[in-house]
Amino acid sequence: MIRYLSPSILNSNFLDLRSTIEMLNQSEAEWIHLDIMDGHFVPNLTFGPPIVQMISSIARKPLDIHLMIEDPDRYIDAFIDAGASILTVHYEACIHLHRTITHIKSRGIKAGVAINPHTPVFLLEEILPYTDLVLNMTVNPGFGGQKFIESSVNKIIKLKKLIDATGSQALIEVDGGIDTDNLETLLKAGVNVAVIGSAIFQSPDAPNEIRQLKSIMKNY
Ligand code: DX5
Ligand code: ZN
Repeated sequence: MIRYLSPSILNSNFLDLRSTIEMLNQSEAEWIHLDIMDGHFVPNLTFGPPIVQMISSIARKPLDIHLMIEDPDRYIDAFIDAGASILTVHYEACIHLHRTITHIKSRGIKAGVAINPHTPVFLLEEILPYTDLVLNMTVNPGFGGQKFIESSVNKIIKLKKLIDATGSQALIEVDGGIDTDNLETLLKAGVNVAVIGSAIFQSPDAPNEIRQLKSIMKNY
């Protein structure tokens, strides 16, 4: 079973971006999670395709790109050209989600659908056969360092049942407030990919934190 760690660099020191990516290259983390925010879909702004392209030029791990932007169709090709390996759009931001997901996959990369904490999993039923990944937000998107929403665990159990019932191969990814304390519960609920930001980058020893997180994942 796939159990990947996807460190989010959102709360890392951007003055030291090169050394962050080199540290992740050498770590046991499988993916690198990049958070793209537009100041409309979420109340915060980050960066766009030029920075992703620079990261891509030195990253040796797949770039797992989380688009927290309205009407993401406008930028999908730019992020794929910049080096995305997995591109995830929000259910709440796409009017023609099937078209969007089909387009991402037609470009030869993995497509994901993200849902906010208030969005029920049953709304994904028709898109599950087409999506490679479901990103269940475990905080309201927009900022790193927020508190994990405990009711997410039951939601993931429901999502796992729905995925199994529809015969979908979609991976379950979780994002927000995850650390060494709640990771195990999430893995037991069926999570495949854990996005972890502050727990890694606010730690005095990020490589050691990654080792600890991966050693928990190896038990599942
Ligand atoms: C939040 C972002 C997350 C964030 C996670 O909107 O999507 O990827 O960086 O950071 P932590 O682990 O600090 O909650
Ligand atoms: Zn994210």
